[in-house]
Amino acid sequence: MTRSQDLPDRDQHEDEPTEPSQWERFGVDTTAPHSARVYDHWLGGKTNFPPDRAMAEAIEQAVPSIKEMARANRAFQGRAVRHLASDHGIRQFLDLGTGIPTSPNTHEIAEEVSPGTRVVYVDNDPIVLAHARALMVSTPASRTTYIHADLRKPEELLSDPALTATLDLDQPVGLLMIAVLMLIADEDDPWGRVAALRDALPSGSCLALTTPTQDFDPVAVGQVTEAARAGGMTLVPRTRDDVVRFFDGWDLVEPGVTPVLAWRPDGPPPANPWAAYYWGGVAIKR
Ligand SMILES: C[S@@+](CC[C@H](N)C(=O)[O-])C[C@H]1O[C@@H](n2cnc3c(N)ncnc32)[C@H](O)[C@@H]1O
Repeated sequence: MTRSQDLPDRDQHEDEPTEPSQWERFGVDTTAPHSARVYDHWLGGKTNFPPDRAMAEAIEQAVPSIKEMARANRAFQGRAVRHLASDHGIRQFLDLGTGIPTSPNTHEIAEEVSPGTRVVYVDNDPIVLAHARALMVSTPASRTTYIHADLRKPEELLSDPALTATLDLDQPVGLLMIAVLMLIADEDDPWGRVAALRDALPSGSCLALTTPTQDFDPVAVGQVTEAARAGGMTLVPRTRDDVVRFFDGWDLVEPGVTPVLAWRPDGPPPANPWAAYYWGGVAIKR
């Protein structure tokens, strides 16, 4: 696994890349679209290149409100992390498929509730690795770290020395898989990988995840999947039953697997909870 020490200085994140060539020497392929950068474009970030923007715009043709959906997904993440920290006492998080750093990130939200929180971020995209210093912001009380690894190898990931130096796997962990499982094809057995992660965590651990779905608008989401496939990206929307299986054996927290907009909204219930095509849920291991 590559460590963040090999990478450009953290300050580079402040300026953001201007030339694709700046990234190519870090193993970033800027000639094809990549999920992290397409998503970064929707969130208003600057770490994306012409092929990413072309893919983002092709998807926007099919789903014009895709940017609002990406924000709704991020907002779910914020509410879920706050819920785990406040209501379930989670003091350590494992955030898989972190993405290009976007504020507020998991450690910022969790530390508002509990300053001693520990966070391990994991992604397998070199461009996220290049931003890793933005994610490694320890204070005397809390500690965050970043691991460049593949969630399809759960045993390797969980035994990584950087992970075990930061998280105590005998204590409850908040496992986050926010908008990442759609990038794991069925042939790669995402349910088996998630089960291996669930099994390795102790009682009191929680799992929060979101994933896009075809359930609310099969035609538009079919077009999105097709556009992604044509651009060489894996994107597998999942049904509600598929999503429920990711939590197998754990107790879903109320209100269960719902559209992300309907999951414990901060304000009044949304008028149209199906406006963002993502399922989301949180469960606890008893
Ligand atoms: C759409 S972004 C989501 C970022 C963030 N979780 C959020 O919801 O705002 C998905 C991220 O998952 C990462 N990813 C995809 N497959 C992965 C894998 N097998 N292991 C680790 N990370 C992966 C991608 O590189 C990308 O950064």
